[in-house]
Amino acid sequence: MTAIREQAVLRIRQDHEYMLDLARRIAACCTRGPHVDSCWQCLPESQRTCHADIEQLVRTFVEVTLRHTLFESMLMEEGVPDAHRIPHRQAHLELAERLKSVRVVFARDGRCVDAIEGIGAVLATLLRHFEEYDRRLEEYLLAPA
Ligand SMILES: [Fe+2]
Ligand SMILES: [Fe+2]
Repeated sequence: MTAIREQAVLRIRQDHEYMLDLARRIAACCTRGPHVDSCWQCLPESQRTCHADIEQLVRTFVEVTLRHTLFESMLMEEGVPDAHRIPHRQAHLELAERLKSVRVVFARDGRCVDAIEGIGAVLATLLRHFEEYDRRLEEYLLAPA
């Protein structure tokens, strides 16, 4: 049982690394820097490449993050007090809503700079989430039975 829980913590940490890597790759798609407020100054050819890259990375980031939060929520079904499980799950739901809205807005407007900004804001929330919730969950999972 302990080995299974250790494996689960390992997977949580690997997922987090992958999610951070994807978010950084999305930010790096725009080579013109963080203070660009429109894509229209770029050549159409680079806009198309940028759009395709961001679309693919955002889709992967959203899928990986949603799957990860489901995995954590499943891990909380046993041995985690309500006082932690309920707000942690609520935080996952809020994160999922924000991710979906970034995707919906990008699918509708196709504005890469907005998608980069939206993912950047989600990344900041994720980093706080790791500290506020996931670290505690790991402690529950690694606690001696
Ligand atoms: Fe979490
Ligand atoms: Fe997590």
